[in-house]
Amino acid sequence: MKNKKKRIRVLSVFGTRPEAIKMCPLIKELNRKNEIESIVCVTGQHRQMLDQVLEIFGIQPDYDLNLMRESQSLTTITINALLELEKILPKIDPDLVLVHGDTTTSVSAALAAYYQQIPVGHVEAGLRTYNIYSPFPEEMNRKMISQIAELFFAPTENNKENLEKENISKNVYITGNTVIDAFKYTVKEEYQFKDSTLKRVNFNEFRIILMTAHRRENLGKPLENICKAVKRIVNENKNVQVVYPVHLNPAVRNTVFSILGNVERIHLSEPLDVEDMHNIMARSSLILTDSGGLQEEGPYFGIPVVVLRTETERLEAIEAGTAKLAGTCEDDICFTVNQLLCDKATYRKMAQAVNPYGDGHASERIAGKIIEWGRIQDVI
Ligand code: UD1
Ligand code: UDP
Repeated sequence: MKNKKKRIRVLSVFGTRPEAIKMCPLIKELNRKNEIESIVCVTGQHRQMLDQVLEIFGIQPDYDLNLMRESQSLTTITINALLELEKILPKIDPDLVLVHGDTTTSVSAALAAYYQQIPVGHVEAGLRTYNIYSPFPEEMNRKMISQIAELFFAPTENNKENLEKENISKNVYITGNTVIDAFKYTVKEEYQFKDSTLKRVNFNEFRIILMTAHRRENLGKPLENICKAVKRIVNENKNVQVVYPVHLNPAVRNTVFSILGNVERIHLSEPLDVEDMHNIMARSSLILTDSGGLQEEGPYFGIPVVVLRTETERLEAIEAGTAKLAGTCEDDICFTVNQLLCDKATYRKMAQAVNPYGDGHASERIAGKIIEWGRIQDVI
């Protein structure tokens, strides 16, 4: 008879800020389970922005591939992640590799595991725009991971249906999004901001617009349009202040600082640690973003999200009425934002719409399904 192990060895691989924010609550949950031995490998696709998250959650990776280079290309991250993971996977010998979402780290880790015939679990599975160039390269990354994965943790019903359309229906579980779980660790009623820019924001006299924009398909002209629109919005609405933590990508920073640097009532900050970020979000009136994560976080706080993209994989947010697609044209963005700032009924309707991303227990569901899977596979 085969000797059963006492625990399922689960290796979680991630490398960027959003993956870390969404994986850390899950890793904490895996650590609580007697049936699971949890091992963490970060690729270091991001450095400062990743370390900020690990520190807040108090997670020390067992392996750090330290891959980040300034202005890195997709090819270099992919190749280096594959080569480094090829070396460490046999040493770790995991029963399951967990990857998250759609980054270059995630697709590389899934492929590296597949090359060694190690099963892959995909957290935040089933998001689709059906346009492989938007978001680029994330849409293709997540489609490729779906072909490799054995376990699928879909945040919403809509995500599960997307997988069904691709004939993936085995081992698909609707769990909610682990980003909602993260708020348990980060959001506080009495909170002192650490970032010096945030200390200067006047929350009492102004409505706060929180914005982020960094996506590869928005670099160049679309990001210029976004910045010009925000400048106009601030000029036309004397009662608003904008807080914009600017991504560390030089291609983002050059555009943003040249158009929005030194504009009255626009605060450009360094990337915020996730505690500062979630707590400023809780105190904002409106979110403008091309980020995926912020589209899921806004509704939790009852804050309307204006999406600075032409399409979104977060259709449940549009359907629930918590987010609006504004595109990347200056006039369209100004129109959508001004309507929300000036028309109370439109604002209230979005603010009161129901959060479609779950109840904050996604990590528990995922850990439970991994244990069930381990029993079926006869690992434990
Ligand atoms: C990546 C993800 C994207 C995710 C984003 C979150 C891919 C293809 N894209 O894109 O899905 O939305 O992360 O932010 O995986 N940099 C630093 N320090 C950091 C992080 C980045 O200096 O801590 C700079 C570096 O110059 C780096 C550049 O930003 O080369 C771009 O980083 P990269 O991970 O390649 O792309 P993102 O646009 O961040
Ligand atoms: N975030 C953060 N600090 C910032 C900007 C964003 O902690 O300065 C958080 C944000 O709250 C969300 C996540 O980072 O949880 C989103 O990451 P990002 O926009 O980098 O990636 P995306 O979600 O677009 O993949």
